[in-house]
Amino acid sequence: MVIDVLLKPKEIRETELKSRVAVVLDVLRATSSIVTALANGCRAVIPAKTISEARKIERCLKNGTYHRKNDFFHDENIPDIFGKDILLGGERGGERVPGFSHGNSPLEYGKEAVADKVLVLTTTNGTKAIRLAAKEAPALFIGSLLNARAAARKIWLLQKDTAVICAGTDGNFSLEDSLAAGVLIKEILQLAQGKLPQGKRDEHPRYTLPEIKDGPGRVHLSDLAAAVYRLALWYGDNLLQAFYDSRHGQKLLQLGFEADLHHCARINLYDLAPVYRQGIIYLP
Ligand code: MLT
Repeated sequence: MVIDVLLKPKEIRETELKSRVAVVLDVLRATSSIVTALANGCRAVIPAKTISEARKIERCLKNGTYHRKNDFFHDENIPDIFGKDILLGGERGGERVPGFSHGNSPLEYGKEAVADKVLVLTTTNGTKAIRLAAKEAPALFIGSLLNARAAARKIWLLQKDTAVICAGTDGNFSLEDSLAAGVLIKEILQLAQGKLPQGKRDEHPRYTLPEIKDGPGRVHLSDLAAAVYRLALWYGDNLLQAFYDSRHGQKLLQLGFEADLHHCARINLYDLAPVYRQGIIYLP
């Protein structure tokens, strides 16, 4: 399997994703909020591109006229989202959208707030990147540091070429998403290395694992994937430092969201890999 990284959402349109698995990362904070909400019992998250679309989805859910998107997969087990309490969440400029019940802080999405409810979420970069990727990629997962290992396991089991998509900040490269991409790749490589006996492990996993000649077990990293993998090794256990180093992390600190940075940096807190299908993010 080949693993590549897209650093900006605009690359989604420019890249052939039809035969690849995709994972979208917006660790500060959209995908961290989505993962946290689902971990706390939220039935489903519906990502909206705009504020008006989010309001429209909420209205249609309430009056029963919401139609699921016709995506690549039809899943019989997709959760029923009708007749449930609906939360309207999202941010612009990092702050809650006026009139919405929730913002984009993962700490707002505890059990008491979200259990058995449906969250309609719109954020500046994250939900847009998810929707864009969903148009192109047949299998789409939601990743973050909070669920890196679980997302890596899903990708490893699928053994398909994979695009790790960074939502970035305002269309630009972001340090925190690139680091998270590296952490995810590190987890995948650990799974791949786990197939080999101790003495035969590849110290330089940019390359394939030669002991396994064909099929499952061969991991090729693009140069960009190798670069973000090395970035993850460089930060090591100090992932929070990358948030403090990043432009968006600094903005969130100014807005008073320091606790969010700490939460979003908690690696492998949740053992779940949300999927996007038919317009809905849920736990399959
Ligand atoms: C986004 O989607 O742009 C982010 O999640 C912004 C934020 O930190 O709320």
